[in-house]
Amino acid sequence: MIPFNRLRIVLAVSEAVPWFKTGGLADVTTALARALDKQGHDVTIILPDYAAVRGSRSSLLPEVTNTGIRFSVNMVGETVEGAVRWAKLPESRVKVLLLAQGRYFNRPQLYMEDGVGYEDNCERFCFFSRAVLEICSQMVLRPDILHCNDWQTALIPALLHSQFADRPGFENAASVMTIHNMSFQGQFWHLDMPLTSMDWQYFSMHHMEHHGDLNLLKTGIAMADQVTTVSPTYAKEICTPEGGCGLDGLLRHRRSDLTGILNGIDQTIWNPNTDRHLSAHFSAGKPQPGKSVCKEHIQQRMNLPVRSDVPLFGMVSRISDQKGFDLIVEASDRILSQDLQFVILGTGDLRYEDQLRRLAERFRSRVAVVIGFDDSLAHQIEAGSDVFLMPSRFEPCGLNQMYSQRYGTVPVVRRVGGLADSVTDTDEETLADRSATGFVFGEYCSVRLAETIERALTTFRQPAVWKQIVHAGMSSDWSWSRSAKRYVEVYHQALERRHERDKDGRQ
Ligand code: ADP
Ligand code: GLC
Repeated sequence: MIPFNRLRIVLAVSEAVPWFKTGGLADVTTALARALDKQGHDVTIILPDYAAVRGSRSSLLPEVTNTGIRFSVNMVGETVEGAVRWAKLPESRVKVLLLAQGRYFNRPQLYMEDGVGYEDNCERFCFFSRAVLEICSQMVLRPDILHCNDWQTALIPALLHSQFADRPGFENAASVMTIHNMSFQGQFWHLDMPLTSMDWQYFSMHHMEHHGDLNLLKTGIAMADQVTTVSPTYAKEICTPEGGCGLDGLLRHRRSDLTGILNGIDQTIWNPNTDRHLSAHFSAGKPQPGKSVCKEHIQQRMNLPVRSDVPLFGMVSRISDQKGFDLIVEASDRILSQDLQFVILGTGDLRYEDQLRRLAERFRSRVAVVIGFDDSLAHQIEAGSDVFLMPSRFEPCGLNQMYSQRYGTVPVVRRVGGLADSVTDTDEETLADRSATGFVFGEYCSVRLAETIERALTTFRQPAVWKQIVHAGMSSDWSWSRSAKRYVEVYHQALERRHERDKDGRQ
């Protein structure tokens, strides 16, 4: 039977704010959960309990308590036990289950240390994916939808197809696989296959095998009832050889089950009028003096000359090839020959970290670089900057270009993925119809980046035009309600697909 109104949704995911965050996935998880909850659905988030890291990145942490519930998963002959902890997502009815397993999850980081992934990542997340279904069964959650996110939970659709298909509590359950980033696939050598507990018959090019390896993201894409990704443009891009990271053939094959849904933002956390990290508040209706106070504050904090007339560029990012740091380094002489300031907060690839540090040393009065992860500073950079830079090589969705628009900070972005879907370039036409919200370039090239920054600088010196662009961005609607409705439509499509599968199976 297909449920009509209130769905029981389990969001299986490897990170969620405010407990654990390395990137946008953590923001999206809780914001979507809250939006679904508001629309009347019953939502449970299940995530690993990386107890040692818990809260290290947030001061306001909802209490986590033990439930007394224990579970076990048979990992290739060894019984591995875990415990369920529990928390409530603030301002919602969303339940959060944290699966504790000391050996796998009580580590200094989530996925990697010093740029190197933990060598048992396959084992850790196979355990987690299998544990999610064990817990659903043991706690009688009876989910209608198992919504899986990225490779860490991509084994779940396969388990649901096979050993859990007829388990009590899963008779009607359907799976949805959301791809947040095609470049992380969870690809491991074939001898890890037993960790999945799947029969070797699934180690085929149509299911779990990819060029001789086990590929978990492929598994999820191949076997979920519906597949989504985080923007309409990225949904198209991943079906091409350039964007598909080797899985474009499979994605084209599943094209009719693939939907691109643009992420929204959590407007309670990212609101310049209430943001607890800011020294002054502001809104679309009254951007000043709050925004200027925030700019002054960030200039002081970063030891840059305090000047209101100089355009301040900000960037908050994982430092990786994805985010276009090679373009920035290549264009730096040309960019920094202009009268501007540049604040960068990020962590990641050591090679780029070094290059950025060197830029900061060379251009002391113009460039400030903070290597690390700092949520509070991220909010302050969004609020205090005039321009936000995201010259990504690829970008499934991207959240910062939306945060920055809400904070009156004009984005300079490359026309790719979700950036193409959320920033409108400034030209005569878009200024005339007041839709311009930023500056966009196409070709992935440092000259194009530098030219676009120069376009932004020229416009910055025309206060009335700048004000119009800022206002258009601040007035845009980035709330989750519309996108959450799209997810619910996809959930219903998944349930229908599951229903059809069962019918076919019985014939
Ligand atoms: P991605 O998930 O690819 O890293 P997104 O734009 O979707 O990119 O989301 C990144 C999120 O992580 C944003 O909320 C951003 O503010 C945050 N973030 C990235 N790096 C840092 C950092 N060094 N310190 C604080 N927040 C960061
Ligand atoms: C990924 C993508 C990013 C997206 C985020 C949340 O990390 O790189 O573009 O916004 O997931 O969906």
